[in-house]
Amino acid sequence: MVLQRLERELSAAYPVDAPEPTSTREFELRAAPGTTQQFDGRLLDVWAYNGQVPGPVLRVRLGEEVVVRLQNDLPQPTTIHWHGARVPNAMDGVPGVTQDPIPPGGSFTYRFVPKDAGTFWFHPHVRGAEQVERGLYGVLIVDDAETLPYSRDEVWVLDDWRLGSDGQVDPRFVTRHDLAHDGRWGQMVTVNGDAAQQLTVRPGERIRLRLVNTSNGRVYRPDFGSLEPRVIAVDGMYTARPLPIDGFELAPGNRLDLDIAIPADGSGRSYAITDRFTRRPFTLATIRADGEPVSTPTFEAPSNPNVPGWDGAVERPVDVTYVLNAQRGGEHGIQWTINGRPWGEHEVTELEGGRWVRVRFQNDSARLHPMHIHGQFFKIIARNGQPVDPPYFRDTVLLRPRETVDVGMVPLDWGRWMMHCHILEHAEAGMMTEVDVGGD
Ligand code: C2O
Ligand code: CU
Repeated sequence: MVLQRLERELSAAYPVDAPEPTSTREFELRAAPGTTQQFDGRLLDVWAYNGQVPGPVLRVRLGEEVVVRLQNDLPQPTTIHWHGARVPNAMDGVPGVTQDPIPPGGSFTYRFVPKDAGTFWFHPHVRGAEQVERGLYGVLIVDDAETLPYSRDEVWVLDDWRLGSDGQVDPRFVTRHDLAHDGRWGQMVTVNGDAAQQLTVRPGERIRLRLVNTSNGRVYRPDFGSLEPRVIAVDGMYTARPLPIDGFELAPGNRLDLDIAIPADGSGRSYAITDRFTRRPFTLATIRADGEPVSTPTFEAPSNPNVPGWDGAVERPVDVTYVLNAQRGGEHGIQWTINGRPWGEHEVTELEGGRWVRVRFQNDSARLHPMHIHGQFFKIIARNGQPVDPPYFRDTVLLRPRETVDVGMVPLDWGRWMMHCHILEHAEAGMMTEVDVGGD
């Protein structure tokens, strides 16, 4: 009974199938080493898509088919994974699971019709701890079928860089130190590649700001001070209603879409956005209001009233448990494990499509783990055994040391999907497994 109700509540929340495409958008991406102006304009050796870090923002409209031809001119094999976008399994970009790695000099064409409008991103799924850190990432925006009347729509890509004494990206990847901690945290934090990002707007504007955390390990907790943004989407999907941002955290992989009304009387004012995740708060970026005020667009913020409440979900037994921990061994000296097994020795979890499941993540370690499931959205139903009911879905959830998080989900996308920690060093050292969604 409960089960059927939980499944019924999901059915209106997001579609099973992609819309029938009305047109096709084609993009060319070339992954290659290069030199860019980064931070404050200084030259940095990077690996980049189309010569820029962050890579290009690929913008399409819901209902369009996306075709991306990737040319690999890196000295390593690569792939692209479309983080958060529900794509056909064969387009998911995971070597050895859904496709062969693209060798140096090779190419591959990704083709899919997005099922959901929202903020997604893309990155390699081969040696991610190195390739993403060197600069390979970009944003995929799927616009709603109908344009929303924001006065501006901006993307802020958050990243941090660990630089060596020569000022270049430190080429020591997946170190024992990174593995014994929360992955690789860099000393240089950038927004859109800029160490002092400033967005200039007119007073009275109402902006949609999309935050994307592409860092290997760093978590952000942005504080917008007096601007009081409202959260309208988490991990790409609209929330049931606009929410205050209080304490919202972006772990690696997470996205947050904000609706911000700039005060009309604030010409000449600057608003600092401060990161408060660590003990040492610092300015992430600033928004500056300048010029003549404009009249603020009034309209109802987008939302998804069909996000299920799933009350009663905690009455259901736990179907799948993932225990997260570390052990000695492996090529890096430390292995991160799921149920005591590193990637390669993992057990594939079989799930039935269309069936509600309760999945438990149990962190037995003293480190952070943002756990991500490809191709699915889930909703948190309990933390440390206490029922909670956030009115939104996620594709990545941050577990704190020794924390247990239960999520509910109804897999609607068939195939073999990765489930892993999005701290890329932890993933590289084994913290990955597979979920196989089957049935008819
Ligand atoms: Cu951004 Cu396997 O994920
Ligand atoms: Cu982890």
